[in-house]
Amino acid sequence: MKKLIYTMNVCLLVCLMLTGCGTEKTPVSSIPQESAEQTTAVSQTDTIDYLVLVNKENPLPEDWENIVETIHMTNSLGDDVEVEKTAYDAYLELKATLEKEGVFVDLDSARRSVAEQQRIVDEFTETYGEYYVQNYVAVPGYSEHHTGLALDLYLNIDGEDVYLNEDMIMYPDIWDKIHAKLADYGFILRYLDGKEAITGYSYEPWHIRYVNDIAIAKEITEKGITLEEYLNKLPVTDVAPPMDGSTDAITIEIHADGMGQFALAEEGETPEFDPDFPHQDFTVHLSAPEKYVLVAKADDGAKFVKWQKDSEDYSTDAEITVEFSEDANYTAFFENE
Ligand code: DAL
Ligand code: ZN
Repeated sequence: MKKLIYTMNVCLLVCLMLTGCGTEKTPVSSIPQESAEQTTAVSQTDTIDYLVLVNKENPLPEDWENIVETIHMTNSLGDDVEVEKTAYDAYLELKATLEKEGVFVDLDSARRSVAEQQRIVDEFTETYGEYYVQNYVAVPGYSEHHTGLALDLYLNIDGEDVYLNEDMIMYPDIWDKIHAKLADYGFILRYLDGKEAITGYSYEPWHIRYVNDIAIAKEITEKGITLEEYLNKLPVTDVAPPMDGSTDAITIEIHADGMGQFALAEEGETPEFDPDFPHQDFTVHLSAPEKYVLVAKADDGAKFVKWQKDSEDYSTDAEITVEFSEDANYTAFFENE
């Protein structure tokens, strides 16, 4: 057993509806019901760089607004969704193929204006705090959604729309089927699990990116790399620490039955990792009547031992699903191999 125990306060606000990349689910009843309607038209799609890198270091190129050609569609929720035209055509093909496999998807959010992104940042900062925003919502001007090439999907399962993150995340098998088809239509999964330090964002199974080149999409997918790595443009500045509590030594992945609000709080001690003692035990303090999946991962040289709940042995499985209606502390224990 280790001497050092740190507390990570996880403030979960999952009762609030978090969607794709921070959009609302307010039905837009005035939107025409046609499947797609072209509204922004400068027929110069060949001038778009489909490999454009928009991330925490690279803003939307200045001329993008003038040359991108988009369409508007209405999703099953009645929301208006604007998408880059070629990406939308590819999405329709992807969707049709998935339907043959019994997987049904729709578009939650695609192109967003800088003003819309700012609205999301303001709303989410107020509601969920800066830490959440750093990990899930781009700074206006730096969102890939501005390009129209980033698409947030949601699921339809047994005739029911499943669009809340905390619900969607419960269907990894369905996401696997979707992800397996992306490259065939020129899409990649953009924010990979385990690549948070490169992308700067937490894992988003629903956020796909159109690159308009099947060979490139396949190469990126097969190599399991990010767009940053493919373009050899790794971040040179510090990025926000991932929401999953990763450290140099161990990773505690915490999925709040989807996406809740995680805040590394100052309850007790602020987590500080002793470089001479790399495999720390971790206490997770949870306080919300929800269901969570906690995954304790040890990097090389360390081994997961057990979870305790309120100082009682709880599980020797690294991944536990917990559901409770009052405060509880879960501690993951690790030992050096
Ligand atoms: N959710 C992605 C990072 C965005 O806001 O653009
Ligand atoms: Zn997104």
